[in-house]
Amino acid sequence: MSDNNATGVQGWIDARFPMTKTWNEHLAEYYAPKNFNFWYYFGSLAMLVLVIQIVSGIWLTMYYKPTAAEAFSSVEFIMRDVNWGWLMRYMHTTGASAFFIVVYLHMFRGLMYGSYQKPRELLWIIGMLIYLVLMAEAFMGYVLPWGQMSFWGAQVIISLFGAIPVIGEPLVVWIQGDFMISEATLGRLFALHVVALPLVLVALVFVHIVALHHVGSNNPDGIEIKQNKGADGKPVDGIPFHPYYSVKDLVGIGVFLILFAAVVFFAPEFYGLFIERPNFQPADPLQTPASIHPVWYFTPHYAILQSIPHALSGVVAMFAAVLILFFMPWIDRGKVRSIRYRGLGFKVALILFAISFVVLGWCGTQEPAGLPVILGRIFSVVYFGFFVFLWVYTYFGLEKTKPVPERVTH
Ligand code: HEM
Repeated sequence: MSDNNATGVQGWIDARFPMTKTWNEHLAEYYAPKNFNFWYYFGSLAMLVLVIQIVSGIWLTMYYKPTAAEAFSSVEFIMRDVNWGWLMRYMHTTGASAFFIVVYLHMFRGLMYGSYQKPRELLWIIGMLIYLVLMAEAFMGYVLPWGQMSFWGAQVIISLFGAIPVIGEPLVVWIQGDFMISEATLGRLFALHVVALPLVLVALVFVHIVALHHVGSNNPDGIEIKQNKGADGKPVDGIPFHPYYSVKDLVGIGVFLILFAAVVFFAPEFYGLFIERPNFQPADPLQTPASIHPVWYFTPHYAILQSIPHALSGVVAMFAAVLILFFMPWIDRGKVRSIRYRGLGFKVALILFAISFVVLGWCGTQEPAGLPVILGRIFSVVYFGFFVFLWVYTYFGLEKTKPVPERVTH
């Protein structure tokens, strides 16, 4: 679309609001590397899931009641009596897991292609903030149906703050708004889940995209396309985002929605992974479920917590497992970005890191005894070992990289 000669409605709006200018700068004339692959679907898919969660969440909020007496039965009411209520609920529960699948793959792509390295450090940090808020959002949402796992999961997680010396116990009471998990707790988690955190998430995603468009996308070769411009001033290895990537992303969205619908319609509980069985029973403060563990997307961190017997150290290790990722741009001092041109050490370390995350995830779903604890301890060391190794490997120049080509490859 041309900028200044527009007439009619477009011209009228353009004279008052930068509509065409924004469209051009961020879509039609935004140049993205031409070698994006499969791994570059997950950013747009994360935005899609955010929209699914907000829309289905708004509908659930119309019927949900945030009181200890009614929360559980209001969810059952949505499932049985509200027209299409079951669909909204299953889209929301499936969406929660889909969000983490998509975001974990999105983050893994960042690790593979060094997308956190200069000049994308802040883009990565904003991403990490999104991840933190997403974790809080998911935890709070999980408490709302007020099932057995909601209640006891909240009990376990909130009581972790009690391990902090001196202020621990008053802090727990402050968070709960009561001396135990109660309706006061439910009310504040509801307010945060439905209003505060979604606002923060949307704002952070906006800032994430602003930062992305300021520095430009990285790509599977880790080449800075802005450094090689043609006579027309456009990157020779770039193509306009719209229509090329808008169409490519639509294909990804189509495939994603088929898989998403398959789960929503045929396996919404997903074998007890997406909706856990104890959560079909109403919360009972007097009866602890046989086994308490979080939903799958938190189990790697939960396994790290359980692998350390000392309560405070366990809590510190669990939080450190997440927070250490913030520092990736400074832990990794590698000279090249993409795994394609990095040393063997990096490749092996990253694969071991991914394996440790999956194994820890499995350990966190098991009873904390025997093999899961042993594996949990071993792979907690592997998990943190990745960061230590990467720093030593790159700081002391031990990495033997391959030459990076001038132009992107296909
Ligand atoms: C709601 C969650 C998120 C949304 C909607 C989102 C959205 C996006 C989009 C649309 C892109 C461009 C397309 C792409 O590269 O796939 C992108 C790129 C990026 N995101 Fe995210 N993101 C989210 C979470 C995260 C998280 C948790 C991290 C890391 C901690 C992260 C780090 C990055 C990085 C480093 C890039 C640039 C990648 C590259 O150019 O190679 N994002 N994000």
